[in-house]
Amino acid sequence: MKGKIVLITGVAKGGISYETCRVLLSLGAVVVMTMRNVKSGEETRRELIKESKCLEEQAHVLSLDLADLRNVERFVEVFKTKFNSTCHVLINNAGLYNPLAKLTSDNIESHFGVNHLGHFYLTELLMDVLVKSKTRVIVVSSKLHEYYTPSEKLFTTKEEFYQNDGSKSKNDLYSRSKFANILYCKKLDRIFQEKDTSNDRACCVSLHPGLVTTSIATHGSFRTILLYKFLALISKDKVHGAQTSIHCALIDRSEIKGGEYFKDCAISKSNPLTNDHQMQDDLWELSLELISLCIKK
Ligand SMILES: NC(=O)c1ccc[n+]([C@@H]2O[C@H](COP(=O)([O-])OP(=O)(O)OC[C@H]3O[C@@H](n4cnc5c(N)ncnc54)[C@H](OP(=O)(O)O)[C@@H]3O)[C@@H](O)[C@H]2O)c1
Repeated sequence: MKGKIVLITGVAKGGISYETCRVLLSLGAVVVMTMRNVKSGEETRRELIKESKCLEEQAHVLSLDLADLRNVERFVEVFKTKFNSTCHVLINNAGLYNPLAKLTSDNIESHFGVNHLGHFYLTELLMDVLVKSKTRVIVVSSKLHEYYTPSEKLFTTKEEFYQNDGSKSKNDLYSRSKFANILYCKKLDRIFQEKDTSNDRACCVSLHPGLVTTSIATHGSFRTILLYKFLALISKDKVHGAQTSIHCALIDRSEIKGGEYFKDCAISKSNPLTNDHQMQDDLWELSLELISLCIKK
């Protein structure tokens, strides 16, 4: 990993991202960590430099709010300028699980907006960089996507996603966004394949980190919080929770075909519906439509 540029979204001291960054920094990577609060991010950066014993210039913090598409545009400009339009590994790690969250600042249902659309726009704007750098894109999804059963036409109309606070399907919002993560991963890999047929082309994989004790589920009703306190008893810690992300970043390129879903550091089966090319294409088209609506405002 020496000298390789890794971009990872949503780095938090209490998240699986922290251990992922620590390991990659200790292996010599240049790690660009995005955070919403860069002030506290600087403290996290300091601790990571100390724990990984890496050089100061390996660890960087940049501001990114995935709930604001204009902010994503500004971020991409800064990233391209600072890192010479190069990115060897992109880890779409940031995630929102908050039953109280309604709409993003662009009026998109929040879970879909942050977990899928913000990352979708990020990769769209970075597409030339990803193809040129032959980037490995790693999408942190969730096992919860496996239980999600969308209607065949879900991604053909914007009404469920735009200016809709999601009250119709409250319990499914997170799973729906994580299902979208996998459809998107498979479609992105198909696009990379169309643009470059070489064996070391850019590729995309997704993963489930396991049930991990982090701060992601600290919002919501008393019942939800209590449930997560109970689940913490059987959860992985953050070090173990980071292992599949680290595995996907480090395995040899020859072990990746593209589009695979990983669990416990091994290839696993995602919900069979995620293999539906039509649904992957519908999600892609819908995402472009939503972005043009939001950016026009
Ligand atoms: N923990 C689990 O059991 C579990 C299971 C399956 C999948 N996952 C997935 O693993 C990934 C990492 O989660 P984690 O468990 O490590 O939780 P975490 O520590 O809460 O990390 C989530 C990160 O996403 C960031 N984020 C939230 N909204 C954002 C926005 N609008 N723009 C930019 N960043 C934003 C958070 O930033 P702030 O600190 O500013 O809020 C935080 O850094 C997520 O994608 C999650 O869905 C976790």
